[in-house]
Amino acid sequence: MLPVQDKKAFKSLLGRSPVMEAVIRTAQIAAATDVHILIEGETGTGKELLAQEIQASSARANDAFIIVNCAALPVELVESLLFGHEPGAFTGAHERKEGYVQRAHQGTLFLDEIGELPLSIQAKLLRFIEHGESQRLGSAEVEYVDVRIIAATNRNLMSMVDSGHFRKDLFYRLNIVPIQLPPLRQRKRDIAELAEHFLQQAAARTQSKPPELTPEALEMLKKYNWPGNIRELRNVCEHVTAMLPGQSIKSEHLPLDMTAVTAKPGSGTGFELPQEGINMESLEIDLIQQALAYANGNKSEAARLLGLSRDAFLYRLKKHNL
Ligand SMILES: Nc1ncnc2c1ncn2[C@@H]1O[C@H](COP(=O)(O)OP(=O)(O)OP(=O)(O)O)[C@@H](O)[C@H]1O
Ligand SMILES: [Mg+2]
Repeated sequence: MLPVQDKKAFKSLLGRSPVMEAVIRTAQIAAATDVHILIEGETGTGKELLAQEIQASSARANDAFIIVNCAALPVELVESLLFGHEPGAFTGAHERKEGYVQRAHQGTLFLDEIGELPLSIQAKLLRFIEHGESQRLGSAEVEYVDVRIIAATNRNLMSMVDSGHFRKDLFYRLNIVPIQLPPLRQRKRDIAELAEHFLQQAAARTQSKPPELTPEALEMLKKYNWPGNIRELRNVCEHVTAMLPGQSIKSEHLPLDMTAVTAKPGSGTGFELPQEGINMESLEIDLIQQALAYANGNKSEAARLLGLSRDAFLYRLKKHNL
């Protein structure tokens, strides 16, 4: 597997487990081009940080980086906030105003939580993406704006497309380079490095000594399933630094609800089927690819990670043409 090309790029994103190496490699390639990017990932997985790093290593690094949280835009103002307006376009619109789109001209527009955009605005955004054409509210004039879009979502956009809540054509327009940030529970080998970093950062902020994790506390961090992902880990580290500066952290000091982790008796693996269901076929392909990445391509080792015999593993590789 090729190593990440530029060691200095993306360095604020800590953790180089195989899944993260793969993410960073894709992000580096995407940053070097000018295509739109869609970042998918659960809450707290680092979508905004990754978007910032992509922008910082793109040709647009010295131009605007405008962050828009689509979930926070009031429905009645979303169009004028994004595309601007003319005076008199609506009550209270006294002067001509730029929208986020114009402010991002020649730079990058980060559309966070894009799944929350109303369908009518999705149509306008699609037109903008396809032709670079933008129209202020209340104006017949078309402006041409040069913007790269990085969109992010913690929802499953494809299932929103299926249920009619997200435009299929917009999804495919954004999904040219999809990047999936894995949840922290799928990159547990990064936990020690991340925890160390957050403990030091919290101690520096409060001008105290960072606490030290005992091996059993670190073990517990690795057992936990982190529903709030990296943000939750950062909060836990800030908590113990505030409570026990410079001290040795044992597992009982960690404010973790371990009951959420332990498999319920009789439930087998503890894996819970999400309400919206899963795609078994793609899950299997995904797991096989992750196992191969963890095992650096060693098939016997990958088979062991999946609890399969080598033959059963080879059979599945063939079945999926991998
Ligand atoms: N790989 C990483 N290395 C270091 N810090 C990280 C990493 N990933 C995320 N963080 C930190 O974790 C916190 C959450 O990250 P971020 O805000 O980018 O997540 P997000 O996916 O945008 O979350 P949300 O979906 O809730 O908006 C931030 O403080 C960020 O700096
Ligand atoms: Mg975010």
